[in-house]
Amino acid sequence: MQDPKEYISQHKDRFINELIELLKIPSISANSAFSEATHQTAKAVANSLKKVGCDVVEICETPGYPIVYAHKMIDPNLPTVLVYGHYDVQPPDPLNLWDSPPFEPVIKKTTLHPEGAIFARGACDDKGQMYMHVKALEYMIANQKLPCNVKFMIEGEEEIGSANLAWYVARNQDKLSNDVILISDTGMIANDIPSITTGLRGLSYVEVEVTGPNRDLHSGLYGGAVANPINILSKMIASLHDDNNHITVKGFYDKVEKLTKAERDKMGEAPFSLEYYKKALDIDAVYGEKGYTTNERSSIRPTLDVNGIWGGYTGEGAKTVIASKAYAKISMRLVPHQDWEEITALFKAHFESISPAGVTVKVTPHHGGQGYVTPIDSIGYRAAEKAYEKTFEKTPIPQRSGGSIPIVALFEQELKSKTILMGFGLDSDAIHSPNEHFGIWNYLKGIETIPYFYEYFVEMKK
Ligand code: BES
Ligand code: MN
Ligand code: MN
Repeated sequence: MQDPKEYISQHKDRFINELIELLKIPSISANSAFSEATHQTAKAVANSLKKVGCDVVEICETPGYPIVYAHKMIDPNLPTVLVYGHYDVQPPDPLNLWDSPPFEPVIKKTTLHPEGAIFARGACDDKGQMYMHVKALEYMIANQKLPCNVKFMIEGEEEIGSANLAWYVARNQDKLSNDVILISDTGMIANDIPSITTGLRGLSYVEVEVTGPNRDLHSGLYGGAVANPINILSKMIASLHDDNNHITVKGFYDKVEKLTKAERDKMGEAPFSLEYYKKALDIDAVYGEKGYTTNERSSIRPTLDVNGIWGGYTGEGAKTVIASKAYAKISMRLVPHQDWEEITALFKAHFESISPAGVTVKVTPHHGGQGYVTPIDSIGYRAAEKAYEKTFEKTPIPQRSGGSIPIVALFEQELKSKTILMGFGLDSDAIHSPNEHFGIWNYLKGIETIPYFYEYFVEMKK
């Protein structure tokens, strides 16, 4: 019997090549032109789970993309770990900003990944991180080291809001019953500063439409005499933050969790370099809510951001026109106790209330979800902590993330179990951006660390 490190060093080239094959399939859930590839990716994931030795592997059809479910049950009296991940990826656009094509993975060295990183859409979010679990299971089964039951649930619609997964989870509570949920779909501070994500922000995503005159108008004949929807929308959006960068939506902060000074001081101890942060983004200053640090602004505080804005003429050259309509997509990141449906309603009421005469506004909610905070004294957290201590030789720092995985709050509600977020990516891995990548060291470290989580979890559960 080998320990994870030995097994990985023997099989590492194959582990990398298998991931590269998975990354070649463009499973872009947001774009229906990639429907066939997305279905094909589900099959590839199912096959990989069959191959490592799951007894049951199912491709569960939904009205959207299927959910891959698999399990290996060794004894009903032993604990069960449920692994969740997603096989869909974000659209790679804009393509011209990639140094190599997003679905033709290449390995390149970077400053932070001197041992090389795989560049491809989905490398880190989440194919690479999800596949670590498949390979960790391979190790455990091949070496008779699987100490408990394991279930996998890998979905294909995370990047578009997990609507069908929510439906599936609510209808399959027994099938999905577990003692702990394990997810690798977040990040850590640095390769030499391991951290475990203890919080995710909630999300409310809306689209707004401002309509002025009933048709596009000549901007000379009508300009100055009618409300220009793009001007109005810009003004309305600008008014959503005050001079201190507080959000002005009425009632927005009413339920926001207030951290004590001690809690904030503790957060402030996590290693962070503002100079490095600015340098990595080529900015000369950070920007955000008055009274909070950069780390706080991007984790324990709620936000409101325009994600896209359009209308009028944006083609080549100039066209003199006042558009009939203007649009924007807006995301609000939420923190504990803010309810996403309530916030969506508050936003809608506020946005309609600030609309001036001469235009009409329409607010359409897209998707959303609640935030999540996991305690650091649970068996799951302590087992993860011990696993990192074993493989990183350092105690991981608990850290709340700014990102969202809305389904996690729903897991707790429907399946009554806690989620442990063992993410091995770095913020600089460019998830959702051009040139997304995942460090090979990180990929292999994840595979090495996961089996220890199982071992310690089962031990502590006794
Ligand atoms: N894996 C990310 C979320 C994430 C990344 C959390 C890094 C913490 C650290 C996930 O795939 C994602 O992109 N979620 C979306 C929300 C979803 C509803 C589209 C997000 O956070 O924008
Ligand atoms: Mn993800
Ligand atoms: Mn994502």
